[in-house]
Amino acid sequence: MSASALRHVTAVRYVTPLREGGSLPGLMEADDLGTYVVKYSGAGQGVPVLVAEVVSGELARGLGLPVPELVTVELDPALGTAEPDQEVQDLLRRSPGLNLGMDFLPGALDLDPGAFPVDPGFAGRVLWFDALVGNVDRTWRNVNMLRWHGAPYLIDHGATLTFHHGWSGPEPPEVLAVGAARPYDASAHVLLTASPDLDAADAELAPLVTPELVRAAVARVPDRWLDVPGFADVAQVRDAYVRRLLARRDARDAWLPPLREAVAQHPARTGATTGSPRPARQIWRRPT
Ligand SMILES: Nc1ncnc2c1ncn2[C@@H]1O[C@H](COP(=O)(O)OP(=O)(O)O)[C@@H](O)[C@H]1O
Ligand SMILES: [Mg+2]
Repeated sequence: MSASALRHVTAVRYVTPLREGGSLPGLMEADDLGTYVVKYSGAGQGVPVLVAEVVSGELARGLGLPVPELVTVELDPALGTAEPDQEVQDLLRRSPGLNLGMDFLPGALDLDPGAFPVDPGFAGRVLWFDALVGNVDRTWRNVNMLRWHGAPYLIDHGATLTFHHGWSGPEPPEVLAVGAARPYDASAHVLLTASPDLDAADAELAPLVTPELVRAAVARVPDRWLDVPGFADVAQVRDAYVRRLLARRDARDAWLPPLREAVAQHPARTGATTGSPRPARQIWRRPT
């Protein structure tokens, strides 16, 4: 294992599927006595989603945002033989070997900013970060933030860096520039109405997005998830992520003003708006 790789564990027990989001991650125990939310390499959207989880999750961590630890998880599909759901069985069967795990936070609740107001500084940093990585999945419907022991955590970065779904090789400079300057659609973002302090976030975070930080986040992706047709080798794929993210940082003059405008047009919400938060982990079992 290289110094840059994620910590690696082996799953020893399949507990249950998690059904709140769309991707049916599995809750599993591992040989380090930890419990992890496992995202499958054989899921329908493919490994780019796992790459996005790692790059954006580690980038967020590098910027000081709270993200539970990410690990790679060795999986033997035979662990799931007692799982009655055919869809889950298929996912496991398609995902032998390396998968992605996130440290499971037991008893965490979905963070509802109506019920638990978040601080404008934090809201600004999360919104700024989501605009940097183009996160389309931190909405009122799917907050993808947990509240655990009174503190917020960011989860689920699979729907970031969506530009990589169309990659067919290294981007020419003109294509890179246009993509990096694309405005971020924050209209459904869950923190848009939490008085996010975008300017403070920009002043604090932009200088931290250095080539070293971005390279370190990209370096944590396992080689075998970076075999992309059209690229010469894995190093060229890593380089494409780094160039694109640094270009995004440098294109803030294009995406920050419309984002400020979106915040200004959505006055702060006050009071609880969505009722009591649901438990983040709703263990669901087919009645037997
Ligand atoms: N680290 C974690 N600790 C506790 N609960 C989690 C954790 N990660 C995910 N969950 C729960 O599982 C659900 C699904 O996970 P998520 O990463 O959002 O996957 P997806 O939305 O792609 O299905 C989350 O909405 C949350 O309720
Ligand atoms: Mg989710």
